[in-house]
Amino acid sequence: MTFTREIDHGTPPAVATGKSVTLTIDGQSVSMPEGTSIMRAASLTGCSIPKLCATDSVESFGSCRLCLVEVEGRAGYPASCTTPVVEGMVVRTQTDRLKQLRRGVMELYISDHPLDCLTCAANGDCELQDQAGAVGLRDVRYGYDGATNMGQPKDQSNPYFDFDPSKCIVCSRCVRACEEVQGTFALTIENKGFGSKVSASQGEDFLGSECVSCGACVQACPTASLIEKKVVDTGTPDRAVVTTCAYCGVGCTFRAEMRGEELVRMVPWKDGKANRGHSCVKGRFAWGYAQHQDRILNPMIRASVNEPWREVSWEEAITHTANEFRRIQEKFGRLSIGGITSSRCTNEETFLVQKLIRQGFGNNNVDTCARVCHSPTGYGLSKTFGTSAGTQDFDSVMKADVILVIGANPTDGHPVFASRMKKRLRQGAKLIVIDPRRTDLVKSPHVEAEHHLPLRPGTNVAMLTALAHVVVTEKLYDEDFIRERCDWDEFQDWADFVSEPSRSPEAIEPLTGVDAQEVRAAARLYATGGNAAIYYGLGVTEHSQGSSTVMAIANLAMATGNVGREGVGVNPLRGQNNVQGACDMGSFPHEFSGYRHVSDDATRKQFEQAWGVKLDKEPGLRIPNMLDAATDGRFKGIFIQGEDILQSDPNTHHVAAGLAAMECVVVQDLFLNETANYAHVFLPGSTFLEKDGTFTNAERRIQMVRKVMTPLNGYADWEIVQLVANAIGLNWSYEHPSEIMEEIAALTPTFAGVNYDRLDAEGSLQWPANDAAPAGTPTMHIHGFARGKGKFVVTDYVPTDEKTGPRFPLLLTTGRILSHYNVGAQTRRTSNTAWHPEDRLEIHPSDAENRGLKDGDWVALRSRAGETTLRALVTERVAPGVVYTTFHHPETQANVITTDYSDWATNCPEYKVTAVQVSLSNGPSDWQQEYAQQAKRSRRIAPVEPAE
Ligand code: SF4
Ligand code: SF4
Ligand code: SF4
Ligand code: FES
Repeated sequence: MTFTREIDHGTPPAVATGKSVTLTIDGQSVSMPEGTSIMRAASLTGCSIPKLCATDSVESFGSCRLCLVEVEGRAGYPASCTTPVVEGMVVRTQTDRLKQLRRGVMELYISDHPLDCLTCAANGDCELQDQAGAVGLRDVRYGYDGATNMGQPKDQSNPYFDFDPSKCIVCSRCVRACEEVQGTFALTIENKGFGSKVSASQGEDFLGSECVSCGACVQACPTASLIEKKVVDTGTPDRAVVTTCAYCGVGCTFRAEMRGEELVRMVPWKDGKANRGHSCVKGRFAWGYAQHQDRILNPMIRASVNEPWREVSWEEAITHTANEFRRIQEKFGRLSIGGITSSRCTNEETFLVQKLIRQGFGNNNVDTCARVCHSPTGYGLSKTFGTSAGTQDFDSVMKADVILVIGANPTDGHPVFASRMKKRLRQGAKLIVIDPRRTDLVKSPHVEAEHHLPLRPGTNVAMLTALAHVVVTEKLYDEDFIRERCDWDEFQDWADFVSEPSRSPEAIEPLTGVDAQEVRAAARLYATGGNAAIYYGLGVTEHSQGSSTVMAIANLAMATGNVGREGVGVNPLRGQNNVQGACDMGSFPHEFSGYRHVSDDATRKQFEQAWGVKLDKEPGLRIPNMLDAATDGRFKGIFIQGEDILQSDPNTHHVAAGLAAMECVVVQDLFLNETANYAHVFLPGSTFLEKDGTFTNAERRIQMVRKVMTPLNGYADWEIVQLVANAIGLNWSYEHPSEIMEEIAALTPTFAGVNYDRLDAEGSLQWPANDAAPAGTPTMHIHGFARGKGKFVVTDYVPTDEKTGPRFPLLLTTGRILSHYNVGAQTRRTSNTAWHPEDRLEIHPSDAENRGLKDGDWVALRSRAGETTLRALVTERVAPGVVYTTFHHPETQANVITTDYSDWATNCPEYKVTAVQVSLSNGPSDWQQEYAQQAKRSRRIAPVEPAE
């Protein structure tokens, strides 16, 4: 793609009413949806009206007066951005009088603007320049020395963009973008008239303000007043490639704007159906890790983890890997090796890794990081609805009347979706939040939850059953829906179960700590408030009853008829960018792609025919079982692509012991991560900027990832997997990921209609996309559940074995923060550390006071599993008795203290409930210091011998 800006139609599309009006613009007769502005109608007709304060990402404001038009029969000159089209209207956009008026307006702007265009970073990419040209400005009668804004200091506090008030034309596009698009309300226009100026929060600098650095204001700014530092340093881009963010499951698409091979900026793509032109700080700005000096670009091997790494050629590394895997299998048997696929890699790469294991290793010992996040979603939704995926697209939230968020913190974890959700809440939808923490959604500017149920960690099932109790006993269920769409007998069994008095809000109040009347009110609102949609995250799944909680959510949605149309549904907010895709692609040890069990003869036969080998019908080992088998001496080799299980998985000591017991640990990653401390082979990985492929987001939306630069390590990850496969004797010959997708489509019924040509043409597809659903499936289960009748499952509350007591009186729960991502391997190598340089322990003021702790003190955090040290953050965001931390920094090793308890159905670890004690400390523990030393030793790379 060569560089052209996306067209800006000036105002957003009209809210659809289904009606259109016909009018004449500059002699052309056009029909437009009712409510469209004259400006947008003209733009869509190919006639651009000059504008400054209007842009199509925000509602029109009508302040600059540059967009005046003439309308027959109307006095004066209405602003085209604020005037809607009317049947029979006759509009003229270019007349002598209009030209004169526009030049007059532009003269005023220019007289108060520093005319240093030739040295301005936005030269050639500035709307003020463009519009001065468009109105034919040739002279400025008032001179060029307007002093209003000149000489004001720049605000360069934000690591990614600058604010230069002298270039500001006070169009307020930034203010409106912050309010309407992002929903943070961090900006205001201070003062009036010539004294007007943009101000962040209460006159703070951007970094110190409430700004979350989403960049919407920078994108909206028509001048160089708000501009990316990288553009200032590099110059304006000269080409653009549309690709998909590699951070979270929202799946924002961007124009990667390039100058040669250098990425200049990421601009959210307006046509992106997941993000609709918006992004968060990570996707827009935190991509510098791709060129970070820590990246390992050459393959390395070593005989033992105590030796320094030795850089070798790709050929030697691949041959060594293949020899080691073959040697281990010959000595310890077919089942002694396995692998882990990556939810950060593309669908095609993930598919190849599981194929390598099934076809090449001859077993099903493959698992993925979804094991530790959303495996209960797969299990629970598959049991109840018949499909292991969320039911809606993101746009659906705009039709919800009631939004129930449980165990999720979208403003930090899924920020772009959170902005959309907040927009709907500002329009009047009601919000219920079920979460132990007072997350931002509970109360933020112009958003306040109707009900916040701050339950004790570990009591989700009891809470959801109590909500169901109210729905059933107060007869708020949707009998017609249940009779038509679900199994009525199963419903009755479930209804009897939830109706038991022991499951009432009053009975469970001592368990959950939540006022029963509040629970009753929330249940009534959910059941009777109109379209009700549930969104949930890892606060639901990462529990010993994770799968039960997912099924309890599904029960509630079915009982109230809130499935199968827009505005409702059950929506897991997926963590990593491609966790949905990794699950879809057959990364679980019991399933082929498309969630078909390995014991199913017909499915297995299909794969056997395609791959020319006999496949194992026994499910393989899950990650924790691989580690157990390793410590038992039965599992000796593993290929880990793009996952850092030592940092991300529970009970770090156990993970370390498992890895240390293996004879060949192969890690493929961008950086020497924590797991690589135990590796014998390191294969450098490629970033999302360096390869083609697809990711599938939380809406089941398959989107293109496109190569924008040459891989620094020489190969895309799919090519490296192919090299390993061929070295162990497979005969793969993929030349492009599109060929892998062809194989996926041929072998996976839900992907049958997916191919790169369609993705290029249509932008994205939501699976199932096949003959039964040729256009894809934005909303699932419309005419019936995928499994036939929806299944109500009785979900008895079983308290976790992890109990508080005198030694460990507090409950620890973990999560993530906006600026960082998962184990932080990428974001810690960007300027995002400006917001979150370390993991902190959130503790309620009363708990802190009881322990003599102050904000910022070092504290020891102890559980039955282990101990770590970090600094305290005293805050009322957590309830008394609950503490919270993130796990983005390896120095903290938060998972040293999480336990081995896991979900009964899927082994998903119980990250969200650990009984702990907190006490004052002097700083990092001996263990942490020793660990840091060991990690340093393990990362040594031997100097390269000079050539003879
Ligand atoms: S970067 Fe985002 S949050 Fe910050 S001021 Fe701009 S629009 Fe608001
Ligand atoms: S900073 Fe940019 S967008 Fe904001 S008011 Fe000034 S010129 Fe307009
Ligand atoms: S991290 Fe998520 S919300 Fe942020 S830009 Fe990337 S996909 Fe979008
Ligand atoms: S663009 Fe219409 S008034 Fe500014």
